[in-house]
Amino acid sequence: MKKFVLLILVYGCLSGILAQTDQVIQPGNLKSFKQTDHGVWLQTENATVIIRVYSPQVIRIRVSRSALPEGFSYAVIQTPQSDFKKVKEHESELELQTDSLKLILNKHPFSIKILNLRGEVLCEDYRDFAYTWQGTEVSCYKKLFSDEKFVGLGEKTGNLNRRGEKYENWNSDVPAYAINADPLYQSIPFYMGIHDKVTYGIFLDNSFRTKFNFGASTDEKFSFFSAANGEMNYYFFGASSLAEIIRDYTWLTGRMTLPPIWSLGYQQCRWSYFPESEVLDLAGKFRNKQIPCDVIYLDIDYMDEYKVFTWDHQKFPQPKAMIGKLNELGFHVVTIVDPGIKIEKGYFAYDEGIKNDYFATYPDGAFYTGNVWPGRCHFPDFTKEDVRRWWGNSFIHLVEPGVEGFWNDMNEPSAWGQNIPDIVQFSFDGRKASMTEMHNVYGLNMSRATFEGTKNLMKGKRAFILTRAGFSGIQRYSAVWTGDNEATDEHMLLSARMVNSMGLSGISFVGPDLGGFMGNPTKELYLRWLSLGVYTPFFRNHSAWGTSHKEPWSFGEDAEKLSREFINQRYRLIPYLYSMIYQSTLSGLPVARSLTINYTFNEKVYWYQYQNEYLFGDNLLVAPVSCTQNASKIYLPEGGWYRLSSGEFFKGNSEVIIDAPLSDLPVFVKASGILPLQSVIQCTSEKPSPVLELHIFNGDKQNSFCYYEDDGSTYQFEKGQYYKRMIIFDPGNKQISLTGTEGSFPSKFTSILIVLHSFGDIMNLKSDGKEYTLKLRPGNQRSVKIPLKNEEIKIQY
Ligand code: GLC
Repeated sequence: MKKFVLLILVYGCLSGILAQTDQVIQPGNLKSFKQTDHGVWLQTENATVIIRVYSPQVIRIRVSRSALPEGFSYAVIQTPQSDFKKVKEHESELELQTDSLKLILNKHPFSIKILNLRGEVLCEDYRDFAYTWQGTEVSCYKKLFSDEKFVGLGEKTGNLNRRGEKYENWNSDVPAYAINADPLYQSIPFYMGIHDKVTYGIFLDNSFRTKFNFGASTDEKFSFFSAANGEMNYYFFGASSLAEIIRDYTWLTGRMTLPPIWSLGYQQCRWSYFPESEVLDLAGKFRNKQIPCDVIYLDIDYMDEYKVFTWDHQKFPQPKAMIGKLNELGFHVVTIVDPGIKIEKGYFAYDEGIKNDYFATYPDGAFYTGNVWPGRCHFPDFTKEDVRRWWGNSFIHLVEPGVEGFWNDMNEPSAWGQNIPDIVQFSFDGRKASMTEMHNVYGLNMSRATFEGTKNLMKGKRAFILTRAGFSGIQRYSAVWTGDNEATDEHMLLSARMVNSMGLSGISFVGPDLGGFMGNPTKELYLRWLSLGVYTPFFRNHSAWGTSHKEPWSFGEDAEKLSREFINQRYRLIPYLYSMIYQSTLSGLPVARSLTINYTFNEKVYWYQYQNEYLFGDNLLVAPVSCTQNASKIYLPEGGWYRLSSGEFFKGNSEVIIDAPLSDLPVFVKASGILPLQSVIQCTSEKPSPVLELHIFNGDKQNSFCYYEDDGSTYQFEKGQYYKRMIIFDPGNKQISLTGTEGSFPSKFTSILIVLHSFGDIMNLKSDGKEYTLKLRPGNQRSVKIPLKNEEIKIQY
C-alpha cells in the first residue's frame, strides 16, 4: 500500500513537472504600481512590467516573469528622455499620458491599450491573453482590426501587406533562396500597423529567435509576436504617419552616415575577377567602351586559400600597384571579408586569435570549429571589445594597398551545414550569451567592428561597408544587399519589394544582385533588371561562380548600348540621389519608398499588381515591370505624373496602361517635381560639366527640395564643409527660388540650367532684374542658363 502511495506521489510530481514545462502562464491581475524615473513600474500576479517614456510618442514596454535587470541592447542607442505627464488610477484601470499618447492599463487581468490624444485606439493587447509564457518563449498578442495592414519587418519575402502571414527571425544563409523563403539573412523585428486611418509601429528588441504572426490562423482575432527566450521588450511608436514612425525608429536605433559618393555609382562584381590582368582588363573595358563605373569588387579568390586579410600573391602579385592603376582610372576597390578564421598555425589571424582568446567557444572553453570557404575555421567573438578592435585593425592589410570598401559576407554566421550548435558561447560584452541570443546580432557586431576599424584606419576618408547579415541598427554601420537571389523575373520583382521593405524598416542603402546571383539571365531580364537598378539605392551587378558573364557588354551590341544609356542615367541622377541619401542620414526616410509611406490609406497601393511600385526619393515614381512584358498596367497615386522619358502627362489616382519596352522602364516625375541632374560622367571622381540642370515639372502645388553637396569622400562636412540650399517651386506666385547657401563647401557647379517641363508657352524668365529668353527643347521643355550664386536666387516666370 505504502509503495502504491509513493508511486502515485512520484507520478503526480513528474506529471506536474512535465505539465509545467508547457504550461501557459499569463501576467494575471495588477497588484501594485509606482512611478519611477521616466515611467512606471508595475507588479502583476505573475510578472513585472516596466514602461518608460523615450519620447512622447516612443514608449518602451518590458514584461518579464522575473525581476527585471537593466536591459542591454546592441540595437538601441537612446535612453528615455521624457515622462508621463499624467498618471491617474481608476477603479479598474490606470491611465498614463504623454504629450502625444494615452495608455490605458487594465488591471483585471493586466493588458495595455494605446490611444492618441484624439481618443483613437492605435493598438491594443488582445484582452483574453495579452502576454504569455510557455517554457522560455514569451509572446505578446494584439487585437487585430478588421482593416488592419502590416508593413515592414525588413528583409522578408512575401507581399507588401503582411497580413495573414507569419515570419521568423533567424539570420540564415540560404543560397538561391526561394521567392517565399523565410527567414533570410537579416533580422529586423520592426513593423508598422495601419488601420482606421491611424498608424503605429512596434520594435521587438530581443535578439533570440523571434516570430511574427500577422493574423495567420488566428481567426481574424489577433496578431502576435514571440521571442524564444529573454524578456518581452518592445518599443511602441505612436506617431501619426509612417514617415514619422520611421524617423522615430531610426532615432532609437540610429541612422546611416554619409557613404562615399562613389558608392552611389555603378558597381561591377563577380565571383570572382582574377588574376590582376583580368581586373585591369575589366577596368579598361569600361573606360574604352565609355560605360560609367565606379567600383570593382574582389570576391573570395583574391585571398590566399580564403584566409581573411591575406592576398593570393600568385593571382595578385602587387595589390597596391594594381589598385593604384585602378584608382588612376577612377575605380575604387571593394574586397570581401568572411568571419571564419582558417585554423592554420603560422597564419597571423589564427595565431593572434588563439593567443588572445578571440574566438567563440563551447561551454567547456574549447574553441568552436565550423567549416566555411577556408576549410576548418574558428569564429571571432565580435561581442568582445578587444576582438572588435583587433578585427578593425586587421583591415590594415587591405587599407594599406588601397582598398576602400569592405564587403562583410557569411556573417549570419554561416558554416557548412547551416547548423552552428546553440551551445556555442560568446561574451556579449561581459554578459555572456549562447548562440541562441547572439546569432541574430553576429552580423551587426561584425559590421560594427568593420565600420569602426576602417573608419579609424582610413584617416578621415569615408569607407564603404556592405553586409549580408544584420539586425536592427545595422544601418548605422553598413549598406545591405539581399543575398544570393536568382536570375528570374519573380526575383527581380521580389527584390524591389525587399528593398522597399528594408526602407520601411530603417535601412535605406540597399539593393539586390542585379541580374540575379545564381542562374543565367536572359538578355531581356538582364536589361530590365539593370534599368531597375538605376533606381535602386545600391547599384551593383553580381553573379555566382560558374554562371554566364553579366558585364554590360556580355549580351551583344544592342544590349551594350542600352546598358550604357541606363548607367548614364544613374550618373545624371547623382545630384538628386546624393541629396536623397543625405536626407536618409537626417530623417531615416529611405531613398526607395514603398508607396505606403506617402499614400498609407490608399487601398490600391497594397494591391497585388501595384505593390512593387515605389517612390525613388521625393519626386520620382518607379513601376517595376517583368522582362517579358512590354506594356504594363500601373497605378499612379493622387496628383499628376509625367513620364520621365517622354514628358507625357497622366492624371493621378488612375490606373493606366503604359508602354514598357525594355529600353524604357516606367518612371514618372510628380507634378511640381524638382529634379537636379548633372552631365554624364564616367565615374564620380570625374568633374561633371559645371552646369547643374534643374528640371521643374509643372504642377499646381508648392514643392521644395533640399539640395546637398559636399566633397563626397571625407568627414569634413561634419565641420561645416558642405553646400546646402532649398529649391522651392511656388506655382501660386509663379516663382522658382533657391535659398542662400548653407555651409562652406563650394558647389561643383557654377551655373544652373533651368529646364521647365510643360509650362505652356512661357518665353521669358526674370531673375535679379535681368530678363532671360527661354530656348525651346523637344518634349514640351523650355530652358535657360543662369549663374549660380550663393545668395538667394529668385526666378519669376
Ligand atoms: C556568398 C555571397 C556571394 C559571394 C559568394 C562567394 O554566396 O552571398 O555574394 O559571391 O559567397 O564569396
